[in-house]
Amino acid sequence: MLELREVTKNYGGLRSLDSVNLHAEAEMITGLIGPNGAGKTTMINCISGLDHPTSGEIIFDGHSIERTPAHRITGYGLARTYQNIRLFNQMSVLENLIVAQHSDGRATLVEALFFLPSHLREYRQQRERAFELLERFHLMNVKDAPAGSLPYGDQRRLEMARALATNPKMILLDEPTAGMNPIETHELGEHILQMKEDGLTILVIEHDMSLISQVCDEVYVLNFGVIIANDTVENIKQNEEVIVAYLGRED
Ligand SMILES: Nc1ncnc2c1ncn2[C@@H]1O[C@H](COP(=O)(O)OP(=O)(O)O)[C@@H](O)[C@H]1O
Ligand SMILES: [Mg+2]
Repeated sequence: MLELREVTKNYGGLRSLDSVNLHAEAEMITGLIGPNGAGKTTMINCISGLDHPTSGEIIFDGHSIERTPAHRITGYGLARTYQNIRLFNQMSVLENLIVAQHSDGRATLVEALFFLPSHLREYRQQRERAFELLERFHLMNVKDAPAGSLPYGDQRRLEMARALATNPKMILLDEPTAGMNPIETHELGEHILQMKEDGLTILVIEHDMSLISQVCDEVYVLNFGVIIANDTVENIKQNEEVIVAYLGRED
């Protein structure tokens, strides 16, 4: 579903990604772990088109996307969330979920301005989709609250719901449990597993090994821009190089 071939990203003299090869299989959950500054967010930025690699290839669902603008990549069915939450804080929770669907909306501006029937039909569908997501992510009781006023855990779930609003094939999650307590983290893991059940392909960046153990089929370990391991969760936990580079710091 997603493949990176020899992807390198330089920022000035600094090499954030160094010949990275990665394969995220369709309808599986692939994990990406590594210490702070390893290049994890850089990788997601390059995949989602927010940034572009210095060299190498990225193939998503048959499309070469390493030079493709972000909105077109979204159109191909690739969605993402951000490590630093990016919601419209003044808008309500419901509005955030409706606005998220506008990029692939088919109503033209004129239709929208004059509320032509085709626009109304589309608006009704968008509201329906938004209500499904409110239900699923337990946000119904706060649907009219400004997104910025929600507790942190709710904002994280809204980020995820918003990414799903466009009906993607694949979703990239950048530290989706940052700032959550263990109970919220486990619940979010359940949401991620449900997304897999629904047929989504998932790439999840995490610090929290309990979430990685809960959801991942396969894990990649990034250290100083280099993939140092790629294996099952169980094997990763026993890999000496990984323990030294990463796990050892936490234990
Ligand atoms: N836009 C940028 N400009 C310059 N340097 C960057 C930029 N984005 C990331 N970096 C650098 O790339 C390295 C990897 O950062 P990042 O991808 O955020 O790591 P991680 O997400 O694994 O913590 C860091 O040294 C960071 O300072
Ligand atoms: Mg990061």
